Amino acid sequence: MQQACAFSSVMYWDARYRGGGTSGAGSVGHLAQFKAGVINRFIADNRITSVIDLGCGDGSQLGLLRLPADYVGVDVSPTALWQCSGRFPQRRFMPCEQADTLPAAELALSLDVIFHLVEDSVFVSTMRRLFALATRFVVIYASNVDADWPVPHVRHRAFTRHVAQSEPDWRLLAHLPNRYPFDPRRPDETSFADFFIYGRPDAACTLHIPQTV
Ligand SMILES: C[S@@+](CC[C@H](N)C(=O)[O-])C[C@H]1O[C@@H](n2cnc3c(N)ncnc32)[C@H](O)[C@@H]1O
Repeated sequence: MQQACAFSSVMYWDARYRGGGTSGAGSVGHLAQFKAGVINRFIADNRITSVIDLGCGDGSQLGLLRLPADYVGVDVSPTALWQCSGRFPQRRFMPCEQADTLPAAELALSLDVIFHLVEDSVFVSTMRRLFALATRFVVIYASNVDADWPVPHVRHRAFTRHVAQSEPDWRLLAHLPNRYPFDPRRPDETSFADFFIYGRPDAACTLHIPQTV
């Protein structure tokens, strides 16, 4: 008797990159420019000196970010890490388990990652890792509803509810809607992700919403 194999997000992403695939439509073009505009302004305004990027991907988005020298890219895919190391030799990249031994950074990023955490245990452990890796801010770019999706590598999560329950030392400082909200007729040019900015309860945060990027 044959058993159906459970979906593995780790295996999916490494196989995708090994097969020549990319981080996806959200990491290029105007969607990537929108993400970079918000993040670059946030880093400058808040004088961020260290960043950990959990789920850095193939480096397309990274190439648009203005980051401090103290940056570490982290991913579950060894292939993505290898690609990033080749493209950005001056930067550090490492797998998730190794990142747990790092000192936390002022800012932890999670961009277009949370709705790819298909397995419940992976979702819970990755959210814990993300907040443990930050001292001042966590910036998340993701959808925020519970919903299945017609492709196996996407599962939408109402993650703000989870964070409110599991991360009492953090509060949601801002929610910035996407400039290109999801339109099923143009799925690659629009996105179901918004920005969610978390800080410590006493955090002073400067947030400008760029009008043009
Ligand atoms: C859609 S890509 C986004 C890449 C990049 N953040 C960007 O915005 O261009 C999603 C990335 O998340 C990574 N990923 C998936 N599950 C992860 C996990 N549990 N922890 C860290 N990264 C993960 C994938 O390998 C992939 O590189």
